[in-house]
Amino acid sequence: MEDNRKVLLKVEHLSQHFKLGKHVLRAVDDVNFEIYKGEVFGLVGESGCGKTTTGRTIIRLYDATGGSVYFDDKRIVAGTLEYKTAIKMAKAKFDAANDALNKEMKALSPEEKSARANEFNEKKKAIADEFNAVKNENIEKIKLARYDHRNCNKEFAKFEVQKVVDKYNPLFEDLNGKIEAAKASNNDAELAELNNQLDTLTKKFKEEKRIASKDRIMNKIQMIFQDPIASLDPRMTVRDIIAEGLIIRGIRDKKYIDERVYKMLELVGLVQEHATRYPHEFSGGQRQRIGIARSIILEPELIIADEPISALDVSIQAQVINLLNQLREKMGLTILFIAHDLSVVKYFSDRIAVMYFGHIVEMTTSDELFKHPLHPYTKSLLSAIPLPDPHYEKKRKRITYNPLSAHDYSKEGPTMREILPGHFILCNSEEFEKYKEEIKELDSKKNA
Ligand SMILES: Nc1ncnc2c1ncn2[C@@H]1O[C@H](COP(=O)(O)OP(=O)(O)O)[C@@H](O)[C@H]1O
Ligand SMILES: [Mg+2]
Repeated sequence: MEDNRKVLLKVEHLSQHFKLGKHVLRAVDDVNFEIYKGEVFGLVGESGCGKTTTGRTIIRLYDATGGSVYFDDKRIVAGTLEYKTAIKMAKAKFDAANDALNKEMKALSPEEKSARANEFNEKKKAIADEFNAVKNENIEKIKLARYDHRNCNKEFAKFEVQKVVDKYNPLFEDLNGKIEAAKASNNDAELAELNNQLDTLTKKFKEEKRIASKDRIMNKIQMIFQDPIASLDPRMTVRDIIAEGLIIRGIRDKKYIDERVYKMLELVGLVQEHATRYPHEFSGGQRQRIGIARSIILEPELIIADEPISALDVSIQAQVINLLNQLREKMGLTILFIAHDLSVVKYFSDRIAVMYFGHIVEMTTSDELFKHPLHPYTKSLLSAIPLPDPHYEKKRKRITYNPLSAHDYSKEGPTMREILPGHFILCNSEEFEKYKEEIKELDSKKNA
């Protein structure tokens, strides 16, 4: 795959583990993917596999257990699990080496012991140094992760303030130059007018700077939720629901807020008059449009759409998908589209990741996934897609996926491998060879 495309979101070793009493539920476990700017990236898997948790961890509704998320090259999520694990493993290695040395010493006679005391001390020091080096390195990484976690919004705001300063500096320079000239030529009328302009510019500059100082990188990512009823506060008017993001951003200008709300309503196919109504007065599809309007008001770059149409009537599902497609074009949005079956994502997504129990098992372009579905879980999802052809429907067999019988990972566990350019699959070496053969067979069938 050509890689001149810009990576907008990079998810690296992301893990979200929930403590349930004594157990740990690995809802998301070492998930890796990248989303390019402007693409629709589908995340598909059955209910409970960790899709929503992935989305919620990316937007920091949950603190990640491990791994990182980078948005526009800035780390916005920073877990510490991998660093803590590295320290634990180094400690275990140190303990084992130390025990072995102690045992070796114990077996020696007192004379031998004293003769070799120096040697043992040096060995002990060496393993302790090694452990401390790993420990210190990872403590630094944990500190850095915590710093990034705490400060990514602050650093972003600093950057946004600088952008405003850079925008206004030449304007001030220009105006001040004119003021000097007016002073020099004693043109009092002109001078008064220019001073007025300076006042206005200063006010605008201060307001923009104030708003920029409150900006958060997390505003660039917004989530649309599955349930348009539960996600809209029933006591708030549509205007207040949609405007909430602006108000949190510190915008106070009522007229501006109203204008933006009307613009959003128009963008999602609703009208101004809807602004004063309450969510219960709307149908499911309209409520989802309100949710979408709310999500785009801060002009995000990435939308995480979490099963945005599963709760809707089939008849209006296509309308909402079309709306998302339009917005994607108009606003240059990038979309992480979450779904529990492949039928929806198939046409809508550029690339698809198939998720099973906290892991991504296969990931490639939409076309390639349907051309060469390899992982047995992907095949099982494919077999669940109904087709409008009744003959096919009669013959259609649902393939069930049972990981215990589908894989033998007793000798070698699976890792993510690239089987064709841009086509990744979770497998071990033996399966990798088998999948390669499958690709050949699929291609020869198609060419026959
Ligand atoms: N806040 C939570 N606390 C404990 N377990 C959770 C929490 N949220 C989700 N889970 C569990 O994590 C797993 C993945 O859930 P979820 O991400 O909602 O799946 P999906 O969106 O794919 O249906 C499920 O087993 C779910 O019960
Ligand atoms: Mg979900």
